Order: sequence, then C-alpha cells, then structure tokens
Amino acid sequence: MCREKNAVVLAHYYTEGAVQDVADFVGDSLALAQQAAKTEADIIVMCGVHFMGETCKILCPEKKVLVCDLDAGCSLADSCKAEDLKAFIDEHPGYKVVSYVNTTAAVKALTDVVVTSSNAKKVVDSFPKDEKLIFGPDKNLGNYINSVTGRQMLLWNGGCHVHGQFSLEGILKLKQEHPQAKVLVHPECPAPIQALADVIGSTAGLLKYAIDSDAQEFIVATESGILHQMTQKCPDKTFLPAPPETSEGIGCQCNECSYMRLNTLQKLYNALRDEQPEITVDPAIAKEAVKPIQRMLELSK
Ligand code: 13P
Ligand code: SF4
Repeated sequence: MCREKNAVVLAHYYTEGAVQDVADFVGDSLALAQQAAKTEADIIVMCGVHFMGETCKILCPEKKVLVCDLDAGCSLADSCKAEDLKAFIDEHPGYKVVSYVNTTAAVKALTDVVVTSSNAKKVVDSFPKDEKLIFGPDKNLGNYINSVTGRQMLLWNGGCHVHGQFSLEGILKLKQEHPQAKVLVHPECPAPIQALADVIGSTAGLLKYAIDSDAQEFIVATESGILHQMTQKCPDKTFLPAPPETSEGIGCQCNECSYMRLNTLQKLYNALRDEQPEITVDPAIAKEAVKPIQRMLELSK
C-alpha cells in the first residue's frame, strides 16, 4: 500500500516493536524531522506523537501527514501552553527563546530556535555567551544543558510524566545486582537520576552508546520502546529497564509512554488505507514555526 500511494512510514524509538519493524525509518526526534524534510513521498505517516506529526507538516506543508491516532499527545508539550509562554516572554524582554521539539506548533511559532535532546548543547552553544536565553519546556533537559554549557538559561517548569517517574532507589538496587552494568539516562530524567548515568543522551545517542560499548549489561532509564532496537542491534547484551516509582513503591520493570502506545499496527494500516487522521497546522502559525525548525536543521548539519 505504501508503494501504491508513495507513502513513507516514520516511527519513533518509543513505539511498540511491531510498528518499528514495519516502518521505513526509525529514529529519534531529530532524525525523524530530518527524514521528513528530505522525503520525496507524497504521504508521510508519523508513528509517534502529535507534535512530531506537526513538525512534519510544518516542514512539508504540501504533503499529506497522517498519524495513527490524533489522541497521541505528550505530557511535556502539554506543560507549555502558547499563551502562557507568550506572557513569560513578554515579562522578559531581550531574551531569545529556545524550545524543545516536544512543543505545539503555536509554541514553536514563538520560538527563536528549536532543539532536540541530541543537538541541544550544540544549538545553545551557537548563541553568544552573553545572550539571554529562555529554555522550555523540559526543566530537566534545561538544567542539564545549563550544566554542560555553563549558562544560566531561564527554565520553563515542564516535564515528561514517563521520565519523571523513574525510581532512584530502584536503579540503585539494579546497580547493586548488576555492578558491571552501564547506566543509560535520557536528559528528560531528573538530576538525581542523571547523576547515576554513565551516559546521558537522546534515544539515538543511548542506542549508539550501547552498540559501541564493550559492556555486556545496561540499565536503561528512558521509555522502554527503545529496548526493541537495543536488543535487535545487540542480541548478546542484556538491557534492564529502569523501574518507575509507583504509589506502592518501586513499580514493574516497564516504563511506557501511553501516548506512544496508541500507535498500533492496525491503526497504521487504517491510516494508510483511509488517508486519515490527517495533521493540519494553521498556515499562519506554520509560517512562523518553520523558521526555528529550519534554524535547528541548519545548525545540526
Ligand atoms: P529523542 O528521541 O529525541 O531522544 O526524544 C525523546 C522523547 O521524549 C520524544 O518524545
Ligand atoms: Fe512526551 Fe514523555 Fe511520551 Fe516523550 S515519553 S512523547 S516526552 S510524554
């Protein structure tokens, strides 16, 4: 059906394994945006979350951008409403705005440059040292970038519900049981979890570290969908998902983004067959939002 319709299926590492296995391309947020920007397909099916579909549509306004489920949102994107950010920007004249890609199109339209977790340091470093910056919405990523760049960006107080709930105690216990294991941490995790890391990186960065490392065991503190690629690419290595904290204490050995899990093979099939649900972005918003995304892509070459 993809060939008939000249469609391409892009999937994020957090989608379920079956979806990743049928996708034309699987990647982190930056790689997905880069793929969308260069595809010659007429239809893009984005298996990920809503803001990823919006990014594709903004970059390719003439193409049809489909998603599996319009309800696949993002708690991090939800933590920053455009009107609230606008008020914050107005309170801080003279500041440039750096926004994580996990934001709505309307937030991107208020932004000077977009970043993902794989290029945030590079993009922030591209500003003069004395440039005053607002960074949002992920506070943990913002704190991490402040620490590695020596900046004091003003941080929006947002976060991801998945990365915010890893259990420090649970990871320490796993580390005791597997003393040789390397700890892989996504920068959306809070600072105490980051402090345990052997490496902090985007999903693609963590996957690359696991592939290149001589270590045999890894504790993985990010959404558990990434384990699919890790176990496929490194069949002889062991990957232990970091446990989340629950109200009863340390939770099960899984950590799933409920939004990403709304992507299923059946919905992907239906989306391709029916050519819906389709992502739309207000052209006036898209006209502004494309600028900081293009700036990021330029800086990421
Ligand atoms: P990356 O794949 O860019 O690391 O992003 C993680 C994420 O939370 C996507 O929503
Ligand atoms: Fe958003 Fe967190 Fe899910 Fe990523 S894992 S899509 S940041 S809610």
